[in-house]
Amino acid sequence: MWREAGLGGVRVLIDAGPTYEDIDPVRFLGNRSSGKMGFAVAAAAAEAGAQVSLVAGPVALATPPGVARRIDVRSARQMHAAVMDAVADADVFIAAAAVADWRVADYSPRKIKKGPTGAPTLVLIENPDILADVAARDPRPFVVGFAAETDRVAEHAREKLERKKLDMLAANRVDEHAGIAADDNALELIWPGGGESLPRAPKAELARALVARIAAHYQAWKPV
Ligand code: PMT
Repeated sequence: MWREAGLGGVRVLIDAGPTYEDIDPVRFLGNRSSGKMGFAVAAAAAEAGAQVSLVAGPVALATPPGVARRIDVRSARQMHAAVMDAVADADVFIAAAAVADWRVADYSPRKIKKGPTGAPTLVLIENPDILADVAARDPRPFVVGFAAETDRVAEHAREKLERKKLDMLAANRVDEHAGIAADDNALELIWPGGGESLPRAPKAELARALVARIAAHYQAWKPV
């Protein structure tokens, strides 16, 4: 049944990969996201007939076949700007990126030196929440978030779905060996009033299953 719902002609915007928050010209705050999950979702959406735009953080991945447009960014604020620029033309937004929640308050244009006063203190400030900002738009696309959790996955996922007012959320457990940077993943898919477990599989396979669910839910949700 899921495979029947395609995304022919649907405009899908996806963000993927990590963001890097520069401290000085040689150092940054980053995370272990490889971009594999988001790129696999972009490939699967293109395969399902969607017109895909991909906003990518710093990753070492080739653009998947069939992806119409790729915009490369580095920081959370750049990713926010690129998504907001493209979202008015999107029917579906999928936020697979591991966006840095914080950036340093004061970027140092010179390399920070060791000195007699010891280690520097980094003051962090909050980055904009791309997913929440897209979900708050009116009109807005069908909005799918991801959640990377180390514990109480289902509970945190349901809280994020409700707080960010999402149409669907794909939660994954992350640790040193699973979810992030790995080739396989497993997803707890939830939506208002329901959910489904997508068991561990290579990310390409899992992405196809996820895109089929998104297509079916989007077709039922979309304005006539
Ligand atoms: O890239 P891989 O190595 O393949 O790993 C895949 C993944 C583990 C990174 C991916 O499957 C995943 O879970 N992505 C979301 C990671 C994350 O940042 O989760 P979060 O729980 O911190 O954020 C929740 C949601 O809000 C996410 O959709 C995130 O993109 C979004 N968000 C978060 C913060 C922010 N400032 N802006 C956002 O849009």
